[in-house]
Amino acid sequence: MQIAKTFDDINSLKKENPGRIAFVPTMGALHKGHLSLIQLAKNHGDQVIVSIFVNPTQFAPNEDFDSYPRDIEKDAKMLSSEGVNILFIPTNEVIYPNGYNSEIKAKEAAKGLETDFRPHFFDGVVNVVNRLFSAVKPDIAIFGEKDFQQLQVIREMVETLNLPIEIIGAPIARDEYGLALSSRNTYLSKDELKIARTLNVVLRNTAITKDYETAKSRLLSNGFDKVDYIKQRWGRVLGAAWVGGTRLIDNVEITDF
Ligand code: PAF
Repeated sequence: MQIAKTFDDINSLKKENPGRIAFVPTMGALHKGHLSLIQLAKNHGDQVIVSIFVNPTQFAPNEDFDSYPRDIEKDAKMLSSEGVNILFIPTNEVIYPNGYNSEIKAKEAAKGLETDFRPHFFDGVVNVVNRLFSAVKPDIAIFGEKDFQQLQVIREMVETLNLPIEIIGAPIARDEYGLALSSRNTYLSKDELKIARTLNVVLRNTAITKDYETAKSRLLSNGFDKVDYIKQRWGRVLGAAWVGGTRLIDNVEITDF
């Protein structure tokens, strides 16, 4: 696996690695969910590029940017053994050479849901993803469906900017209890993990009952401390809730019975 740190590195390594480029942008702290994105990238492209960049502009000052899990050596080993061709690890200066100015704004898909609680988030995401796209110039990019609203926001950005990139959504990877895999799950204590594992059960049930208020009270009685939202959109039930200091998001497809 080759390492790129700058736009120039990426350009010269790409010349050595011809073919369709499938790109997986990440913030590191990789888990099995990321590996399923990489597998999908391998299936769709000739070369796989993964980026690791914990993007400061998608965190609010009160959020977990400083404590976000980082283990670049472990991540690099994992990616290398998965057969990833290029790992792109830019610094803040490479991505934001002129400071944290946001050139583009997230649009319709960003309205409501996450934005009601994290208003800074999607502008941060579209700006960093656009900059990563201009470094890597991929043919295909893979994003997890766990962040379902993010996936819609990125699809909309690619359409609006007319970027020649195919966006592929990867199905949610879950543990044996159905908990959606997330780098933030490492924050959960044993007791919190038990509570967290009920989120997907409540969402699946709500996809049948469509009773969003009962869903909220069930989560609270299961031990969640706060429910940001449980709502229907894009044929899915999407939810965000807090266990202690950890915010979890998940979504399930609504299938009509
Ligand atoms: O989903 C993520 O890990 C991040 O939001 C992304 C897409 C890598 C942008 O920083």
